[in-house]
Parts: sequence; structure tokens; C-alpha cells
Amino acid sequence: MATELTVPRWLVAGEPGWTASADVVVVGSGIAGLTTALRLRQRVDRVLLVTKTVLNEGSTQWAQGGIAAALDPADSPEEHLHDTLVAGCGVCDVRAVTALVNEGPERVRELVALGAEFDLDDEGELKLTREGGHHRDRIAHAGGDATGKEISRALIAALHAVQDDPGIEVIEHALVVDLLQDARDRVCGVTLHVIGEGQMDGVGAALARAVVLATGGLGQVYSATTNPSVATGDGLGAALRAGAVLADVEFVQFHPTVLWLGEGSSGQQPLISEAVRGEGAFLVDRDGVRFMQGRHPLADLAPRDVVSRAIVDRMHQTGDNHVFLDARHLGREFLEARFPSIVARCRELGFDPVTDLLPVAPAQHYASGGVRTDLVGRTSLDGLYACGEVSCTGVHGANRLASNSLLEGLVFAHRIADDISARLAEGQLPQVDPVRPTADTALLDASARVQVQATMTTGSGAVRSADSLAAAAAALVELAAAATSGEPGPLSWETTNLLHVGQVLTLAAALREETRGGHVRSDFPEQVDPSWRGHTQLVRGVDGAVTTTFVPVPEQDLA
Ligand code: SIN
Repeated sequence: MATELTVPRWLVAGEPGWTASADVVVVGSGIAGLTTALRLRQRVDRVLLVTKTVLNEGSTQWAQGGIAAALDPADSPEEHLHDTLVAGCGVCDVRAVTALVNEGPERVRELVALGAEFDLDDEGELKLTREGGHHRDRIAHAGGDATGKEISRALIAALHAVQDDPGIEVIEHALVVDLLQDARDRVCGVTLHVIGEGQMDGVGAALARAVVLATGGLGQVYSATTNPSVATGDGLGAALRAGAVLADVEFVQFHPTVLWLGEGSSGQQPLISEAVRGEGAFLVDRDGVRFMQGRHPLADLAPRDVVSRAIVDRMHQTGDNHVFLDARHLGREFLEARFPSIVARCRELGFDPVTDLLPVAPAQHYASGGVRTDLVGRTSLDGLYACGEVSCTGVHGANRLASNSLLEGLVFAHRIADDISARLAEGQLPQVDPVRPTADTALLDASARVQVQATMTTGSGAVRSADSLAAAAAALVELAAAATSGEPGPLSWETTNLLHVGQVLTLAAALREETRGGHVRSDFPEQVDPSWRGHTQLVRGVDGAVTTTFVPVPEQDLA
């Protein structure tokens, strides 16, 4: 279906002043990018890892709860599969989830062997906890509530151990601007802006036989998010402009328990891990009523979309802009030992989980959709792979199951590295020459960022309707019309990416006339319409017009 949305091919940027080359360029240094680069490095001659700021700055670092895998002998991949499909509300890709749950336990054990120090019980076995939507204790964690930080530390240490190896090069402060393609659309590199020294400074080109996007999420498209400031949808924007198929971008997860810091708080907000509820904390309203009881068989540990919606409903009923999380009964000793970072952050902000009810409200947390991939991370564009939050493997469906994101990055990074190295060994993926960028460009001034975020929050946020989405689409078109000038640079490139991501997200959300998972339509409040059981896909054609298709998925047994 053709739509009226058009997106230019390029961001306005200067001519590349330098060129680097490698067999594979990996963009991003979270669990997905680091794992891909480390595994590729053992198999191909030259890997170039580029990252927007410094190695440990991305979303992985912020992951609190943990990494889910059927590691307990009483658990099984089949049960993990079932919980994932239920959370995904019938639109997961069963084959992708099967790969995730079957390969997950081994991948986590490999992380331990690499040096990641997970929390252990008295017998030296991994301590496992529970989060929303899981029927078993299957979340491995580290440092209590600092799992991402520890995984990131271990992977970066492994990278540093081989960094003198000529087979791998790392460039920090390198923002990818656009994907380079040859005359047949094969992706053959990236343009990037490096804040560097010597030769590699300013805009350059990194040419490669394959490019892996592992750029993380898009949370900054909203006014309030748990994502760090670097999560500006750069990879998704670049893939969209290059003509890659995107899928399920309307499925945005709002985490139920984000510390509420007052009306108008914007940017990255403090997350209170679902693991706190996993250990027994519960939600109450201002009268102390436990409103999750009776709402879902898992009560406070229902899947995230269910809890977020219940909170929004309760806020409407009470007229409040937050509810409360009660963890006081867990006690000082337990809370300080199990959740040291959360307790410290809450105290810094004036709340003590030991003695206070914590004000919480949902905020943007995760993009369940992204650049469509197959089971080995290949996108619709030859030479381009996507891994982790920027991708849509089909693992998450309409709503990601808690702690499946680190696992997805890990499992699919392995698959991608193995696929690329096999293809390179077979002489596939030849190096080709990029075509020169055309004048079909856009650049939105950085000052428009707040408008994009406010528009998306009001129109395409946690609860949407045809009217709110139409208003958002119109406001974004108006901003896009102004996106013709401005000073090229990281802030304006990011802002333009937020605009383009916001436009396709709003388009997909307007198409899907139902409520499912992370996509909540106030004008279609009934849960899941069977005729919408499938994926929305969008692609930008050579003329810039974005077309959409709907791809049904077979019915799944979610009983
Ligand atoms: C959390 O700890 O609640 C977040 C973990 C996740 O997003 O899976």
C-alpha cells in the first residue's frame, strides 16, 4: 500500500574527507555489537567496530534486571518459548523464538566463561529470579541490579585483550550518518562522523563487505524514556533511508515502573527494575489498593504491557499522574544487598525504598520492532545485517518478554557472525564501490528535537488514537518541510533521525487498528483483533515514498 509519506535518501553531510576499509563494519558497542565483533574477529581478517560515544555508553550498560534463559534444571526452553509467545501477543516469529530459547542457555554460559560475574547462590550456581510474564525463575543477574554493566565490562575487557591485534580496530566518537550502497543497492559501507585526531576526523567513509547495525533503540523520540541520550534511532533512520524493510515499529514498550520525578521531567528517567516486583514488591494506588490483583493471574508480575495499561487505567480513575511501588516489606538488608544501584539512585533523588512508597509511572523503554531480519540477521538489503534492539527478528512480537533483550543480542550476534564469516569464506559479499550521495537530502535543526519529542509523546505515545496519530503525522510533516537547512553535525543528524523514525512509527501505529501488546489504541480498546495477527512492514522506495504491507502470521497456541 502506498502512503503519502516520503523520506529523503540522505542526511545533509559534507563529502567524506577520509576512507577506512574492513571486511565487516560493526556499528554499536552494546551486547549485540561487541559480541558480533568479538566472534567475527576470530573468523575474518579485518573487523572495524565503530561506536557513537565511548564503548560502554549504550543501553546495555543500563540493563538492570538481567538475562533470561532456561538455566534451571526444572525449567525448559519450551516453557521459555511459551512465555515469550504469550508476552508477544500472538505475533512473534516462532522460529526466531525457538532459536533464542534453545541457544540462550549455552550463550549465557559462554558469557560466564568469558568472565562475566553473575550473582551465585551458596552452591556456586547462578542465582535466578523472576520478572513479569515468566512462569519460572530464569533471570540471571549480576551486581544485584547491574547486569548490563557487568556484561558490558566483561565484553569490553575481552575486546581490550585483543585490541592490539591488527584484525580488529575500534573507533569511538563515531556517529554513523548513512549507509553506502552500490548501484544495485548492496550495502557496502557507512558514512560516519568522527570526533577524532589526525587523519580520521570529521566526515569519512568506512567501506566493507558487510555492515552490521547494532545501534540500539529509539527512546529519545519520546520526551521521557529509560534509554540513555545516545538512543536516537540512528541505525533505524539510516536503514529506512537506504530502503531496508522495517517491521512492527508501532510496538513500543512502556516500562511500568519508572520513578516518577514530576510533571515535565524529560530525557532519561530512572528505571525501577521489574525484578523488584519479582522479589515481592507490589503496586498500589494512593489509597493503598493493590490494583493488579484480579487483573491478571500473574498480578504484579503480568507481562509489561498488561501492567502498564493497568497503571494508566488506575491513574485515569484516581486523577493522579503516578501510582506507587511498595517494596518496604522487603527490608533494608535485603533491598540494599539485592538492588544496590536502584536503592542508591532512589536515595539520591529523595526516595528511600526501605521507608517510602516509590512514585512510579510508565515511560518508554524498548522498541520491539525494527529493521526486519531473517534468522541469521540478514536484512532485506544485501550486505546489511541488524542485531539487538535496532532489529526486528520477530522474537518480541508485540511486547518483549522481560530480560529477553540481552539474550536476543547475544544469540543473534553469534548467528550473524557465523553467517558473515561463512559467506566471506565462500567468496560471497564482494567489496563493491558505493554510488555517490545525491541531493535528495534532509537536515532538521537540533532546536526542533523537543518538538519532535513532544509531538510523539502526545500523538504516538503510550495510548494512541486515529485523531492523535493524524495530528502527530501532520505536525511531523510540517517539521519535515523545514528540514532543508541547518548546520550539519551530530545534534542535527540525531534530530533528523528522530524525525524520520517518528514518522514511520506514527504511520505504522495509524495502520494498526487494534490494541495489541505495546500498541494501545483508545479508539480500538478491545484487545487483539484476529484480522491484525501479523506484522506491519514499511519500506522506502527509490522515489522516497514509503509503502506498507501487512504480513499475517499463523495462529499460535497461547493457552
Ligand atoms: C527491568 O529490569 O525491569 C528491565 C529489564 C528488561 O527490560 O528486560
